[in-house]
Amino acid sequence: MDMIAEPNSSFTFPADFVWGVATSSFQIEGAASEDGKGPSIWDEFCRVPNTIADHSNGDVACDHYHRWATDLNLIANLGVDAYRFSVSWPRVRPGGAGAWNEQGLAFYERIVDGLLERGIKPYLTLNHWDLPAELQAKGGWANRDTVHRFVEYACHVAQRMGDRVAAITTHNEPWVMATLGHETGEFAPGIKNRAIAMRVSHHLLLSHGLAVQALRAQGCKSKLGIVLNLSPVVPATDTPEDKAFAQLKDGKLVRWYMDPLFNKGYPADVLAYLDNDAPKVKDGDLRDIATPMDFLGVNYYSRKVVSASGHWDVHKGGLPFTDMGWEIYPEGLTELLLRLNRDYVLPPIYVTENGAAFKDAMTEGQIHDTRRVDFIARHIDAVGAAMAQGVRIEGYMVWSLLDNFEWASGYEKRFGIIHVDYSTQQRTLKDSARWYRKLMQRNKAERIQAELLARSA
Ligand code: FCB
Repeated sequence: MDMIAEPNSSFTFPADFVWGVATSSFQIEGAASEDGKGPSIWDEFCRVPNTIADHSNGDVACDHYHRWATDLNLIANLGVDAYRFSVSWPRVRPGGAGAWNEQGLAFYERIVDGLLERGIKPYLTLNHWDLPAELQAKGGWANRDTVHRFVEYACHVAQRMGDRVAAITTHNEPWVMATLGHETGEFAPGIKNRAIAMRVSHHLLLSHGLAVQALRAQGCKSKLGIVLNLSPVVPATDTPEDKAFAQLKDGKLVRWYMDPLFNKGYPADVLAYLDNDAPKVKDGDLRDIATPMDFLGVNYYSRKVVSASGHWDVHKGGLPFTDMGWEIYPEGLTELLLRLNRDYVLPPIYVTENGAAFKDAMTEGQIHDTRRVDFIARHIDAVGAAMAQGVRIEGYMVWSLLDNFEWASGYEKRFGIIHVDYSTQQRTLKDSARWYRKLMQRNKAERIQAELLARSA
């Protein structure tokens, strides 16, 4: 008997709504130095003692580089419309500049063609954080030259497969690369310097805009956009100090990226706060950053509760939280989407990542991850609620297809709707995968019914 809960969302999603699953290269591929791949900043960062909770690295990960064909079968078996994956820059151009690696390019062409053969739309991300280490040695994203190397990389990948991919994302989560990578140093490349972090953010935004222009100029037909990690930022108390602090945090997380992308320039309050640490903006940069795009990707996991006096204890929120210690707050996704729609003139939105890490238990070969099912169901409802209130949202993608290398948390945190046994590389569908499949099937059945009704009316 099928024990999977019936999906009972209160919303009917439109016929062309794109349902997907997402991954990224470094988190799943492994084959870290195979077939000509160069090292990335994450390969190097993992070698630094005490950077990764379980002292692991991406050398093998989910071994997707070798198991790509069976993994694509798993994706097809879920019945999704789209698969969001990323290209590893150092796999296709090992030094970040100079020679291209044919074997690396061929790997991603196999992925793209394999998806198309299975009826799945490829959503390709160019930069999901694994910068070639050789570019880092020259300053990485803090060096304005990297902007131009990125544009070359974007153009080359698009020349090879842009005719077959539905969408190209320039960067995944620039805030994470800038702030966690260069201000707190928790992520690669592990730098702790706010002025560098802000320069990195500016170069990421600039390279996004210039890449969009260059791809359009070469006739690329894919939809072009960027993916941001966004959250409502909530003050812990009603005190003026906490409210002001939350306003500034919102500026750094949301407006620092949204404002320039949507033609408003950098927010004045954040510039004033940064003072000498603000990035140097050359003439024309803001115009280039604001190059119109075809979609905005939003990654949503939780709200952020902040207090001026220091650290917020998640236990105080009264909400349940995930294995990452992130509050479960689906309403925040509706709030965020409505706010973006109110404050900016937006292209269509995709929720490009949403999901949760929980400790899963395998019993008799099954994983009854009811908390993950509930998490995803409530967030899909939150998307529906925003759409019902007029926000243009064209797709939703679960993070993640597979349990994988969760950056500084290593393999301890499991986000997959498919379980990975890292000792055997065996994949097992969790209940959440089977539930998601049912939800998509039911949606398709509803669409067909609605079309038949419309025809007979
Ligand atoms: C996002 C990342 C993704 C994954 C999830 C949990 O910030 O884009 O790679 O690690 O968080």
